[in-house]
This record gives sequence, C-alpha cells and structure tokens, in this order.
Amino acid sequence: MDINILAIESSCDETSAAIVQNGKVLNNIIATQSVHEKYGGVVPELASRAHQQHIVPVVEQALSDANISKKDLKAVAFTQGPGLLGALLVGSSFAKSLASALKIPLIGVNHMQAHILAHFIEDPKPNFPFLCLTVSGGHTQIVKVNDYLDMEILGETKDDAVGEAFDKIAKIIGLPYPGGPMIDKHAKKGNHEAFQFPETEMPGFNYSFSGIKTAVLYFLQNNSQRDSNFVSGNLDDICASVQHRLIMTLLQKLKKASKHTGIKEIAIAGGVSANSYLRKILAETGEELNWNTYIPKFEYCTDNAGMIAMTAYFKYQKQDFLSMDAAPIPRMKFSIDKNS
Ligand code: KG4
Ligand code: ZN
Repeated sequence: MDINILAIESSCDETSAAIVQNGKVLNNIIATQSVHEKYGGVVPELASRAHQQHIVPVVEQALSDANISKKDLKAVAFTQGPGLLGALLVGSSFAKSLASALKIPLIGVNHMQAHILAHFIEDPKPNFPFLCLTVSGGHTQIVKVNDYLDMEILGETKDDAVGEAFDKIAKIIGLPYPGGPMIDKHAKKGNHEAFQFPETEMPGFNYSFSGIKTAVLYFLQNNSQRDSNFVSGNLDDICASVQHRLIMTLLQKLKKASKHTGIKEIAIAGGVSANSYLRKILAETGEELNWNTYIPKFEYCTDNAGMIAMTAYFKYQKQDFLSMDAAPIPRMKFSIDKNS
C-alpha cells in the first residue's frame, strides 16, 4: 500500500503544501504573499492572516493534483520551527486537526533540516557525509550532514543571516523587498570590483554580516552628500560589489570547513542558494578544488512544502511522530551546535 504523506509549510511568508508518495515528492504547491512588499519586510500579523486564507485551497490543490483523497493519507507533516510563531501556528493547528480527524500520525519537521534534505527530492543526491552551506533570510550555517536526520552545525552567523544582509542592504540602497533577488538582478550588469567593502573576521567557521550593512550605509551617505545621483548612477556596480563581498565571505569559510573535515561533497540550501553569483562561484570553486557540488533546483531553494514532505518521509520511516498536543517552536534547533 502507498505511503502518502501531506506536508504543510507556513514558517514565514509562503503557504505551501506537497504530497510525498513512497519517498517521491509528487507536487509542491506554493502561495506567495505579496502583501509584505509595500512594507519592505514580512509583517508577522499579515503573514498569519494570509496563511489562514491560503492554507485550505493550497492543501486541496496538492491533494487533487496528486489524485489522492484525505483517506489515502498515512500521515500529516508540518513545519514545527524555526519561524514566526503566528505563522507556524496556522500550519500546526491545521495539521493537528487533520491528523486527529483522520486518526493518522503527526510529523513535526525542522525547517532548516528540510532545506538541506531538499537535495534528496531529485537526482543528483549528495553522498554522506556532506557539507551544506544553508543560507536563508533567518540562518547562515555550515552543517556537516552525517545521515538524513543526523546533522551537526560546524559554524553559523553570530548576528545577521546573509539573506537578511541582502534584504537590509537592498533597503538602504532603495530597492524593493525582497531585496536579495533585486541585488542579484542588478549585479549581473555591474562591476564587482568597483567598490570595496570590508569583511568582518570571525573565529572558526562562524560568520558576521552586520558590519557590511553599516559600511554600506556610511559609504552611500558619504557619497550621496557629494553627488545626490550617486546611487542611481552606480546602482549596478554597488549591487555587484556588495554581492561579491557577501558571497566571497560565504565561500571562504566553506573552503576552510572542507579542508578541515576533508569532505568534498558540498551542497548549498536555503533561499540565498537561488543567488546566481553564489551558484556560479560554487561551481567554479568546485572545479578548482575537486568538489562534487550540489545546487538545488530554484523551486526547492526558497520556502516550499516539497522539502518538508521529503523530510517527513525520512521521519515516517523512523516512526518519529509527535503527540497531538505538540506546539510550534519558533527557535527550534536540529543539532547540537559544536560551536556555541
Ligand atoms: O529560505 P527562504 O525562502 O526563507 C527563509 O527561511 O528565510 O530565504 C529567503 C531569503 C531572503 O532573504 C531573500 O532575499 C533571499 O533568500 N534570496 C536571495 C535570492 N533569492 C532569495 N538572496 C540573494 N539572491 C537571490 N537570488
Ligand atoms: Zn527557509
């Protein structure tokens, strides 16, 4: 009999549902919330409200697309954390009600672990152990992945996440939200050597991205005082230079972690792995250092329920189920941080 699992993602500003059948992700339905654009960032209260509006149609579409009825489900999975509490609550309440009505198990998934396990949705799949640079709006981590559900954080950011740095710098420059893709777009036309921005030295495999944000702010203020058209006249070069600094910082620690562990299976995951410059530099570095590199399909880089479904399948095999009174965990961790 088929093992069908419904998975729900609602940790931030995408409402998504997917069906995994016997380990194969059949679909990945995503409703994006455009309501946040005019505020220049995700507004938690509006996110919860939009999740409430989207969750039923998104789940219905995932089931009908897969030609599955609710009674064919063997489990319901949801993102338990990390994420915004109000947003997580919508997904968890829905998943709990459905699982208890159908009398089937409930599976809680860690969102960051799911970003990494998105690599197992399609071929080629990394071999264990591999290193994964997980880069999103809330996290920046180098993770040693020993097995599907056995992961160690080797290093992480001690302040802003790299996606957050992209978004905040974009806001300083005057670009709309979400800023990461906008910087990526303008950078394609710019010269990354036009301006130099400083890098904050951090011990071990850790990162810090709050310094560059301040450096960009002062740099633009000083230059705009002299020339009020400085930003508009140099937009592409500013974006290319900022992006170059952020991506090179990411790569430098990843190279160090590979050298230290001897691991040459290297993956990237999370929203920032959609960045075209990171994808290009990773591929080039991989060639140079003899790495096998794994870059997810765009669809599985940013938040999606396909990755929650994939993780849920591994948890189902281990019979790793939650009780019906399980609550969302906004600061959920998935491993012992070897670094703290
Ligand atoms: O994983 P994700 O979709 O949501 C979180 O869990 O945070 O990541 C969102 C982050 C945002 O900061 C967004 O600006 C960034 O990923 N991002 C990008 C690109 N596409 C998305 N950053 C740089 N370049 C991109 N092309
Ligand atoms: Zn994410």
